[in-house]
Amino acid sequence: MRVTDKVELKGYMSETVLVTGSTGFIGTRLLRRLAEEGERVRVFLRPESNGDALPKGVEVVRGRFDDVDALAGAVRGVDRIVHLAGVTKALDEAGYDAGNVMPVRNLLAAVREHNPGLKRFVLVSSLTVAGPASEGLRGVSEHDSPAPVSAYGRSKLRAEALCMECSSAIPVTIVRPPAVYGPGDRDVLQVFQMLAKGVLVSAGSVARQRFSMIYVDDLVRGMMMAARSDRAAGSIYYITSPRSYSWNELIAAVQPVFGLTKVYKLSLPRPLVFLVGMVIGAAGSLRGTVPLINRDKANELVQDYWVCSPGKAELDLGFTAGTTLEAGVAKTISWYRSKGWL
Ligand SMILES: NC(=O)c1ccc[n+]([C@@H]2O[C@H](COP(=O)([O-])OP(=O)(O)OC[C@H]3O[C@@H](n4cnc5c(N)ncnc54)[C@H](OP(=O)(O)O)[C@@H]3O)[C@@H](O)[C@H]2O)c1
Repeated sequence: MRVTDKVELKGYMSETVLVTGSTGFIGTRLLRRLAEEGERVRVFLRPESNGDALPKGVEVVRGRFDDVDALAGAVRGVDRIVHLAGVTKALDEAGYDAGNVMPVRNLLAAVREHNPGLKRFVLVSSLTVAGPASEGLRGVSEHDSPAPVSAYGRSKLRAEALCMECSSAIPVTIVRPPAVYGPGDRDVLQVFQMLAKGVLVSAGSVARQRFSMIYVDDLVRGMMMAARSDRAAGSIYYITSPRSYSWNELIAAVQPVFGLTKVYKLSLPRPLVFLVGMVIGAAGSLRGTVPLINRDKANELVQDYWVCSPGKAELDLGFTAGTTLEAGVAKTISWYRSKGWL
């Protein structure tokens, strides 16, 4: 831990933090950080969740997000809540509602009833709430009106609205990360797997697309700064990289790690991406399984600029993502290799 991090921690050592979604990619890294900081951690695990890999000393409350008694037991007595649980893929709007909206509604109701003194409720939302930026170098900011282009983004927006509706009674903070990468991630892994073979296939224009990204441990640090800052109550923050990247910059970052001399790039035309999305999505709907891509996801993939501005988090929280793309990529690939994922 760095000296500045120790300063951030002053006064928080004796708190209890409730984390939902603790078994996921970001949750695992958050628990690791909280353990390093010496925080008391309680997790809310769904009945089907596998808690075998949870760090020692973590208190577990099990239940469903529609079980009021279980939620009461989860929220009672905690100082702060970080709500990470959710779904990034679902069959339809109802599936996104069940994964991303209902849990927030019920958690907030439980807080009102059983923990009115809660110091902070952090909702981990998503850049997809804002929708894509209109240009690649200046990203969307917290002042821009939300314009989600997918069912996932719309569900996160509904969850945000629930938080904002009760912000006079409960101190809420909303964090909107862009694409998150790092040890344990399985989504950006697919890009690394292609690049390891010297190939990049992009849905949309390889030459035009730019995106914000954040290394998972930077996100976790930023999230906790937002969770602990008095100034952040009632606010929304993009916790993101200092600037956006192009595919060529990502390729340049991975080339030395993979020892690649050349990467072959292919841009899939938008109509083809939508066609593939429709076919795979329809097959998924018929089978009743959540597909990797459907028409709705295709509409996320083809956008040119998934870019957001770090300005407000820098100003209010003093947060800067310290991990360079080169360092983050090297650490991520090294982790994937150690697990045999690459
Ligand atoms: N990864 C990214 O690039 C990214 C970017 C922006 C925003 N986010 C948001 O950050 C949060 C965590 O993302 P992640 O990448 O860590 O996701 P993840 O690896 O898929 O983990 C999500 C966790 O949510 C819980 N969960 C799974 N299905 C659920 C359901 N149907 N209903 C309620 N909870 C469910 C599970 O935790 P338990 O088993 O412990 O219950 C799961 O481990 C999500 O809310 C996501 O929308 C992620």
